[in-house]
Amino acid sequence: MILPSILQSARHYIKQALPPGGFAIDGTVGNGYDTLFLAETTGPSGAVFGFDIQQAALQQARCRLEKAGQLEQVRLFHASHHRMGEELPPRLKGKIHAAMFNLGYLPHGDSSVITRKETTIPALQTALDWLKSGGILTCALYTGHPGGQEEADHVIRFATGLCPKSYQVLWQQLINRKQAPSLVIIEKR
Ligand SMILES: C[S@@+](CC[C@H](N)C(=O)[O-])C[C@H]1O[C@@H](n2cnc3c(N)ncnc32)[C@H](O)[C@@H]1O
Repeated sequence: MILPSILQSARHYIKQALPPGGFAIDGTVGNGYDTLFLAETTGPSGAVFGFDIQQAALQQARCRLEKAGQLEQVRLFHASHHRMGEELPPRLKGKIHAAMFNLGYLPHGDSSVITRKETTIPALQTALDWLKSGGILTCALYTGHPGGQEEADHVIRFATGLCPKSYQVLWQQLINRKQAPSLVIIEKR
């Protein structure tokens, strides 16, 4: 396949913005695949701050990071992503290089625990506030589960409304497949 999947695109854009020694946020840690990618990209001299409301997910992620020898630069918080501003070190405000969100529910986990617009939108706004100029935020959207389409619609509306002087926004969406996941990529100017 020549066209990138949304996961490949997310990683591609994040890699452009996140240098070794850089700072990143994982807004939805889940099984920790994205957290591990961020930790490998920043390396031991950087820092990754991860959030999830499920303790079981955080444990899985911690194991994965430990096995890969990448736990040292990661701080995991059992907290909703809309409260990240209370946990992030104040000195890093405006200095975060990259933020990743992967919405929906935990694969192979409890599918009734889903991300919700009421907390997702404030979390996206907070992550943008903490990004540095040139920083990238990616947000993967899923519409196949109850509530997913409504949440995706709100995220698209939020991203569409961002001031073009401050942000560039891209939306990757397969348009010939029903309920295909899509990706919003936001670059802070
Ligand atoms: C699609 S999964 C994330 C997959 C993950 N990025 C990975 O690499 O495995 C979505 C995750 O969001 C979490 N979640 C749901 N609501 C949340 C919230 N308000 N704050 C933080 N995480 C939340 C779920 O518990 C679930 O683990």
